[in-house]
Amino acid sequence: MSTIFVAGATGAVGRRAVRPLVDAGHHVTAVARTDEKAALVESLGARPVRVDVFDAAAVKDAVATHDVVVNLTTHIPRAAKAALPGAWAENDRIRTEVSRNLVDAALAAGASRYVQESITFGYADAGDRWIAEDHPYVGSVYASVEAAEANAHRFTASSGGGAGVVLRFGMFYDSESHTTRDLVKGVAAGRLFLPGAAGAYASFVATDDAAAAVVAALAAPAGTYNVVDDEPVTRAEIARLAAAAVDRPVKVLPSPVSKAMATKAEPLSRSQRVSNTAFKEATGWSPRVPTLRAGLPPVVHEVLASSPSAASMVVRALLALLLPATIAVGVWAEFAPRSFYDDFPGLGLIWVASDGPFNEHLVRDFGATNLALAVLLTVAVWKGGRVLLATAAGAYLAYAVPHLAYHLRHTHVIDGVDRVTSLASLVMAAILAAAALTIHRRDMTR
Ligand SMILES: NC(=O)c1ccc[n+]([C@@H]2O[C@H](COP(=O)([O-])OP(=O)(O)OC[C@H]3O[C@@H](n4cnc5c(N)ncnc54)[C@H](OP(=O)(O)O)[C@@H]3O)[C@@H](O)[C@H]2O)c1
Repeated sequence: MSTIFVAGATGAVGRRAVRPLVDAGHHVTAVARTDEKAALVESLGARPVRVDVFDAAAVKDAVATHDVVVNLTTHIPRAAKAALPGAWAENDRIRTEVSRNLVDAALAAGASRYVQESITFGYADAGDRWIAEDHPYVGSVYASVEAAEANAHRFTASSGGGAGVVLRFGMFYDSESHTTRDLVKGVAAGRLFLPGAAGAYASFVATDDAAAAVVAALAAPAGTYNVVDDEPVTRAEIARLAAAAVDRPVKVLPSPVSKAMATKAEPLSRSQRVSNTAFKEATGWSPRVPTLRAGLPPVVHEVLASSPSAASMVVRALLALLLPATIAVGVWAEFAPRSFYDDFPGLGLIWVASDGPFNEHLVRDFGATNLALAVLLTVAVWKGGRVLLATAAGAYLAYAVPHLAYHLRHTHVIDGVDRVTSLASLVMAAILAAAALTIHRRDMTR
């Protein structure tokens, strides 16, 4: 059994790799930058360590006594920010400096193995031909990737028999990481940014399979390996799969939105039909999800099931419109019942005093009812969620309809402008709640 130091253990791949490493009997130390991440690492069975991965001396101290070092640290910007100046600076710095610090530390510790995360996207376009690890890797945008890989090879050369292993991952996908979620949300809205020709291949790997490859890498001879699924798919097929998964037409956007992004995205337009043969033969690893054809539909459904829909945002907005008046009525009637009876709703209008004598008990109870509704509406607007939205809209309707019905049967107790304005406000409130409930029900049965 080994003592393993994992940097990037809290990321998309890392958090999936730590538990199997622990289950295999290894002692795992994992970098955690916050108390919350430390708790996550502990829940996975590893020992958290807080260390600045850019601080070479601190990294050396943290890595000492470990047999294996695994570097999964990356910092990929969100799609919406990827074209902004400097968006990739931290990722480039991580790949260049953190790999250097970790390899220096692994060598100083006398470790026997160093595993480095990398990507397949730098391969030159190969059309329909399969791409093995010796295929040319081209493009200055991947300078930091090449620097990270070079550090892994430096480990092999300098460790006196140790193995530096580079895992070139295809495109990850899973229902939790922001890259997949952003992509699925775009597809659900009918658009898919997909540079490249319709017949050009892209290579993917389910994130769980990528994590399993990190475990398998502990037995791999030194070298560089592609970690992708068995059957890369063409852009045309990705578009078809995406449209089928969301059950609507999807418009493919072939070009990036900006020049800055065009440089970064150019490699993503290449045809890369990447082969996993070498890694399979070296380790016995095999992807549990053999292709995007099998893996994409469940991931899309999971993302959509856990994302607020446009309709639920409308429902929240409608309920939010009811909140100010509900809070105002609740506070006024509860804490100044006499003033509420005499003056509500203000501005010279009198809607309450004209209908029966003052009763403090009843006015305060009416105020408390509105305060309770305000609490329910606030939580529903803030949190969303199928049950909360239905409960809040239904509860408000159960209040608004009998209230309106009473006033429709007693229109004679108030006159003129007061009658029109009070009925209009009650009708409006009932309509807002009914609309919220109807839209919500339709959204749930979609
Ligand atoms: N081949 C691929 O398709 C590929 C490759 C890489 C990333 N991605 C995707 O890109 C998205 C975002 O990736 P990501 O790289 O931001 O996150 P990530 O892959 O989820 O994880 C990055 C890891 O690096 C750590 N890290 C980042 N900056 C650090 C720093 N300055 N010091 C120490 N540790 C640091 C993170 O720690 P914290 O948890 O503390 O932030 C985390 O453990 C994810 O959806 C991922 O799936 C895809």
